[in-house]
Amino acid sequence: MAGIAFLEPVEEQEKLAKKWGFKASEIRELSNNEFFMPGLVDTHIHAPQYSFSGTRVDLPLLQWLKAYTYPTETKYKDNDFAEEVYTRAVRRTLKNGTTTACYFATIHTDASLLLADIIDKFGQRAFVGKVCMDINESCPDYKETTSESVKETERFVRGVLEKKYARVHPIITPRFGPSCTEEMLGRLGDLAEAHGVYVQSHISETEEEIKLVQKIFPTYQNYTELYDKNKLLTSKTIMAHGCYLSDEELKLFTCRGAAIAHCPNSNTALCSGFLNVKKVLKYNVKLGLGTDVAGGYSASMFDAIRNALIVSNTLKINKENEEGLTLKEVFQLATLGGSQALGLDAIIGNFEVGKEFDALLINTKASDSPFDLFASDMFEDSVQKFLYLGDDRNIEEVYVAGKLVVPFSSSV
Ligand code: GUN
Ligand code: FE
Repeated sequence: MAGIAFLEPVEEQEKLAKKWGFKASEIRELSNNEFFMPGLVDTHIHAPQYSFSGTRVDLPLLQWLKAYTYPTETKYKDNDFAEEVYTRAVRRTLKNGTTTACYFATIHTDASLLLADIIDKFGQRAFVGKVCMDINESCPDYKETTSESVKETERFVRGVLEKKYARVHPIITPRFGPSCTEEMLGRLGDLAEAHGVYVQSHISETEEEIKLVQKIFPTYQNYTELYDKNKLLTSKTIMAHGCYLSDEELKLFTCRGAAIAHCPNSNTALCSGFLNVKKVLKYNVKLGLGTDVAGGYSASMFDAIRNALIVSNTLKINKENEEGLTLKEVFQLATLGGSQALGLDAIIGNFEVGKEFDALLINTKASDSPFDLFASDMFEDSVQKFLYLGDDRNIEEVYVAGKLVVPFSSSV
């Protein structure tokens, strides 16, 4: 494991070289324009939807799923099509500094296994889920039977585990309440428990979706209870959105140790709603940021950082919050927060001694940098400018577990 051995002032160099047995010639000294930052954690992204990201965000969620998303996702029965899009999705996210991603694939097991393989080849850290849906009235061709869905999830989980990837894990993925029967949810909950694996889904993204859940599952008190009673709300669960969760539901999240993936670009692009992150954090619910490609139109976590601030400021303007999130807080959500949400904070999330080195080498004066620095800019200013205005042109190198993954190796 290429871990972080020590963090010491540069003056200690000679002493450290003796202690750790390295030579002066092996030291990599950064220029004044360069710094390392922890890798970004995208806690919610749909790899198959990358093919239409940046288009078709002109409908509300349920219509958007029917008109664009389900028809696109059916194409992943073709492994060649899947290979092209999945390769591009992994390249794009890595190039933009996503060292860890939590992916939804589609209902197709073979293409989902292929996604796991591609991620491993590129060296990204990830969770990958084969999507489960045994109800789909808006696109009847795109669903499975209950038993198929459960059997194929088992094949997917075993398939990924058997590969013994160093950093790619399977995750059980019921799509959302309206596309699942109670029986399927229950069996997936059992499966998650039996294998001790993580669970991801969507919750309370739009008001229309919540009404639909109430109609389909009238015996449950609320959306959160639907997942909870089916063993899908545990300390190994990450739910996207949660814009309309009640206090009672948030308390249940806290109690179970379940996490939320906040996807501000998606929430505003599809006019779904606003998540009050400050309030969620007050309940001590684990929270990370997600791009939610392609409901969110950008695959970059820097966009997620900026949109999280815009949403937080909007709530402040509307007097729903006294204080908004700061840039520092949002930066932490995009790194350490995401790692906590995915149960990886003992391994990644910041540069603590003993953690693995998931990092981005940033150059604030890259030759084609999209922003300018002036003599009066202090280091802190250059970091802020990068976070608000920078992009992949400023990311010179990306490391996952100490291995250089960007620039891409010629073997991928
Ligand atoms: N809810 C169910 N499926 C989806 C999806 O693909 N994207 C988003 N944003 N919400 C969903
Ligand atoms: Fe999503």
